[in-house]
Amino acid sequence: MSTAQQAPTYPALVQALADRGLLDARWRQVFEAVPRSRFVPADIWRQSPDRCEPVVGADAWLALVNSDEPVVTQIDDGAEHGPGVATSSSSMPSMVARMLGLLGVEDGQRVMEIGTGTGYVAALLSERLGDDRVHSVEVDPALARRAAEALARAGYRPHLRVGDGEQPWPGLAPVDRLIATCALRHVPYALLRQVRPGGIVVAPLARAFWSGALVRLHVQGDATATGTFCGGASYMPMRSHRAADLHEVRGKGRARAAGLDPARLLTLGFALYAGARLPGVRLVHQATGAGARVWATREDGAAATTASGEEVWQYGPGLLWEEIEQVWQEYERLGRPDADQFGLTVTDRGQRVWLRDQGAPIGPTRP
Ligand SMILES: C[S@@+](CC[C@H](N)C(=O)[O-])C[C@H]1O[C@@H](n2cnc3c(N)ncnc32)[C@H](O)[C@@H]1O
Repeated sequence: MSTAQQAPTYPALVQALADRGLLDARWRQVFEAVPRSRFVPADIWRQSPDRCEPVVGADAWLALVNSDEPVVTQIDDGAEHGPGVATSSSSMPSMVARMLGLLGVEDGQRVMEIGTGTGYVAALLSERLGDDRVHSVEVDPALARRAAEALARAGYRPHLRVGDGEQPWPGLAPVDRLIATCALRHVPYALLRQVRPGGIVVAPLARAFWSGALVRLHVQGDATATGTFCGGASYMPMRSHRAADLHEVRGKGRARAAGLDPARLLTLGFALYAGARLPGVRLVHQATGAGARVWATREDGAAATTASGEEVWQYGPGLLWEEIEQVWQEYERLGRPDADQFGLTVTDRGQRVWLRDQGAPIGPTRP
C-alpha cells in the first residue's frame, strides 16, 4: 500500500472529531462541507517541541493537513533566514471544534474572528452563519491576501480586514460572538466594547506563569465580562502580546537543597493560581528524564531554577523559589483545584482571576 493510501482522509478526521463529541450535528455538516486542505498553502511546517520542520512531498503534506495536528503556515513573520518560529498556522482541528462549540453560535448571529490566518475558521463560520455575518481581521497583509484568495476560491466572502485585532473594527456594530485564534496575555477591554451585552468571547490566554488556557467570557450590560477557563490551549500569541520568555537575571546564584519537585507545578490549575498570586513572574519548563526543569524570573531580576531531584538555584533580590513553594502550599490547602474551577473577570481596570467565586478575585502575594 502506498503512503498516499495510508494517509488519513478529511472525512475520517471529521468522523474522529464527531466520535470525540466535539461536533454537534450542525457543526459536523459544516466541517464536512469545508475541507481544511483548501486553506493550507503548499509550504508548510510541522511543529515539534523545539522547532518547525518543513514538510516535504505531497503525501506528507496531505497526511499532516488531514490529521488532528496544527499545520504551521508561516515562520518568522514571513522573513527569510529567521530562527524558525511559527507565526501563523491552521490550528489543531480538535481545538477549532472545541472553540467553535464554546462559542455557542446561533442562526442569525454575527461573529468576529481575530487572526484570519489561513481563512479556514472564517470559512467554517461563513458556512455556518452566512458570509455577511462573519468578520475576520488579520494583522499580516500577506497572510490576509492569501486567506482572501482561498476563501473566494472556496466560494466564501466574509468581511475581511487587515489590521491589529486588538483595536476595535472601525464602524462595526457590536457582534454577538468574538473568537480570538491567537493567544492573548490579557483580554483588551476595547474588544469587549465590540461585543453586545449578553454576547460571548472565546479566547486562548497565555499568561506569564506558564499557562495556555481557553477562557469563555459572557459580556455583561456594564461592558465588563466574566467567565470560566475551559481547558488548555496552546496558541501563538497576538503580535502585540509577544513577550520574551524570561527576564534578565541579576546577581550571583545561591544554591539550596532540592525541595518541591518542579514537575508537580505543571498543572494548568496551579499555573492559573500562581499567575494570580505572583503577577509578573514568568515560568518556563522543559521535560527531563527525571521529570521537569523549570526557570522562573521576575522583572526585579529575581530568578530561580531547579529540576526534579536537583538542588535549587536562586538569583537576585528575595528568594523566588521559596515564594513559589509557599504559593504551592496555599494551592494544596485549597484542595489543588482544577483549571475549570478558575474564572476571569475583565473590566476597564484590568483583568482578575478568581477561584469558584467571581466576587472574590485572587490577589497578589505582594501589595
Ligand atoms: C493560529 S493563527 C490563526 C488560525 C486561523 N484562525 C485559521 O483558521 O487558519 C494566528 C493568526 O493570528 C494572527 N495575528 C497575530 N496577532 C494579530 C493581531 N494583533 N490582529 C490580528 N491578527 C493577528 C497571526 O498573524 C496568525 O495568522
